Amino acid sequence: MDLLNQKIIVTGAARGMGAATVRAYVKAGATVYAMDIANDAGAQMTENANKLGPGTAHYMPVDVAERESVERAFATAYQQMGGLDVLAHPAAIQRSSDASTVTEQEWDDMFTVNVRGTMTTNQIAAKHMQTGAGGSIINFGSISGQRAEPSAVAYSAAKGAVHSWTRSAAASWGQYNIRVNAILPAMATPMYLEARERSSAAQNEAAYWLNHHSIALGQQYGDPDADLGPVMVFFASAASRFITGQLIPVDGGQTNVR
Ligand SMILES: NC(=O)c1ccc[n+]([C@@H]2O[C@H](COP(=O)([O-])OP(=O)(O)OC[C@H]3O[C@@H](n4cnc5c(N)ncnc54)[C@H](O)[C@@H]3O)[C@@H](O)[C@H]2O)c1
Repeated sequence: MDLLNQKIIVTGAARGMGAATVRAYVKAGATVYAMDIANDAGAQMTENANKLGPGTAHYMPVDVAERESVERAFATAYQQMGGLDVLAHPAAIQRSSDASTVTEQEWDDMFTVNVRGTMTTNQIAAKHMQTGAGGSIINFGSISGQRAEPSAVAYSAAKGAVHSWTRSAAASWGQYNIRVNAILPAMATPMYLEARERSSAAQNEAAYWLNHHSIALGQQYGDPDADLGPVMVFFASAASRFITGQLIPVDGGQTNVR
């Protein structure tokens, strides 16, 4: 499952699962364009990832909410690498909201970054992949898109939309040998820690019973490098060549997709 000569774009690469994905791909020998809006953190992460070799990482700013930004960054990466084989797309935002008070602005922010950003990045990547032998697109869904989420209604709705999009894009682009899957993770990342910090002790107690207790493998969120990185390598490699349109929980058993 090595990724020698693979040309890869990773969004949301400055921290969390995006950063772990870049490290896994560099270790597997790929050429990686790491992209984010957090430019200082992204550049620092890339410098550190390059020490892991044999692959290489390059940092490039992108705002996945802006089509022009994605067009420009992906076209540059495509030209510099001489092709595109894989898009890993973890970039997203998470906010709390409830059904009675969620505002149009909060709703639009969530859908602009998480849903439209998925459509835009996937569409532009697929256009580049069609000039080669196809490719693999790895989106990020969530257990929140599978179940009721009364404290994060907009995030839940947006992730449900990412799941539907992933199925439809896979059906559309199979003819070009482009695979589209979505990871549903449970990983200890800054997003996860920030959500805990925003919550009261009572909310965190409730979250333990809702989110941690059902993780069969140890009742704890996973480590992005140890528990997600190898899965990202698998979905970037030819070992997963006959898997598309799937929602894949990488969550120690927290949820079941049926
Ligand atoms: N952490 C979890 O357990 C968990 C659970 C379910 C789903 N997810 C999903 O997994 C993915 C990765 O989550 P994470 O925990 O690593 O998040 P994170 O917040 O730690 O990292 C997300 C990255 O995306 C970047 N980003 C945000 N908006 C952007 C934009 N407009 N353009 C470019 N980059 C942007 C951020 O700067 C950040 O570096 C997300 O899609 C998230 O919704 C996470």
